[in-house]
Amino acid sequence: MRLEGKIAVVTGAMQGIGAGVSRVLARNGATVILTDVSPRVEETARSIAEEGYAAEHHVMDVTDPEQVSEVFEEITVRHGRVDVLVNNAGIYPRRKLVEMDEEFLHRMFEINLFGMFRCARAVLPGMMERRYGKIVNMSSVTGSMVGAPGGGQTAYGATKAAVIGFTKALALETAQYGINVNTILPGYIHSPSAYGLRGSEEAGDAEEKMREFGYKIPVGRQGSPEDVGNLVLFLASDESSYLTGSEIVIDGGNILQEEYLGPYKPK
Ligand SMILES: NC(=O)c1ccc[n+]([C@@H]2O[C@H](COP(=O)([O-])OP(=O)(O)OC[C@H]3O[C@@H](n4cnc5c(N)ncnc54)[C@H](O)[C@@H]3O)[C@@H](O)[C@H]2O)c1
Repeated sequence: MRLEGKIAVVTGAMQGIGAGVSRVLARNGATVILTDVSPRVEETARSIAEEGYAAEHHVMDVTDPEQVSEVFEEITVRHGRVDVLVNNAGIYPRRKLVEMDEEFLHRMFEINLFGMFRCARAVLPGMMERRYGKIVNMSSVTGSMVGAPGGGQTAYGATKAAVIGFTKALALETAQYGINVNTILPGYIHSPSAYGLRGSEEAGDAEEKMREFGYKIPVGRQGSPEDVGNLVLFLASDESSYLTGSEIVIDGGNILQEEYLGPYKPK
């Protein structure tokens, strides 16, 4: 097993990509600590543990610096260290700039960016001391590009572009300590929040709407949280030791298109 004996912490792990990443890491031998602002993270951790893998949980709001310190302290006392940190927690409500107040703007940056600073700061001293660590930050193709033709992504795009800058600077700062810091830029991934954006409110035809949406993507489908999990697995493994400061797009070929030639139904 590629991650046997490793201790991995995932933020925003109650559902969606964070839950999928946690499942893949646990299935590959890691002890995974799922964290989320929602207490329902307990159910997700339990479902992984019921499959026979090592999964625990902590309620942790990445916007609360004290809670973040306390939770990482508890994890370190219990497990002795953190080998892998997956900074995944993020939100993506759409709001046009002229309709945005300060509170909205600050909340976006607090969760999507500052949360990553806090979690990385909590694990880095130990990783530097042991000369080992893997940090994976969840950015998005939205940041270097714009996803929503209708607008409303200035704040989200700014946070996700900032995640790339954060990753590169931290990678350089920690490379000599044997720490790898990389960022993933997912395209359209099938998660509960994305479902709200791309599915339908009407029960029954939501699945069909999601399938139809997938035909806009060259590989003919939206990605799954486990697709992202498999990439995190590589970045969390020793096989990725020469990779740091990289931004990796996982989007089924979607941003390759200069012109839409779909629908891309499987042939
Ligand atoms: N789904 C996509 O298509 C897609 C594409 C590109 C990037 N992403 C990024 O991937 C990450 C996960 O997205 P998702 O689609 O799985 O979203 P999601 O909403 O399904 O899951 C996000 C999780 O983060 C948690 N969370 C929210 N605020 C938090 C806080 N303050 N502290 C701790 N946890 C918090 C939520 O409770 C939830 O469990 C986000 O960073 C998102 O920007 C998603």
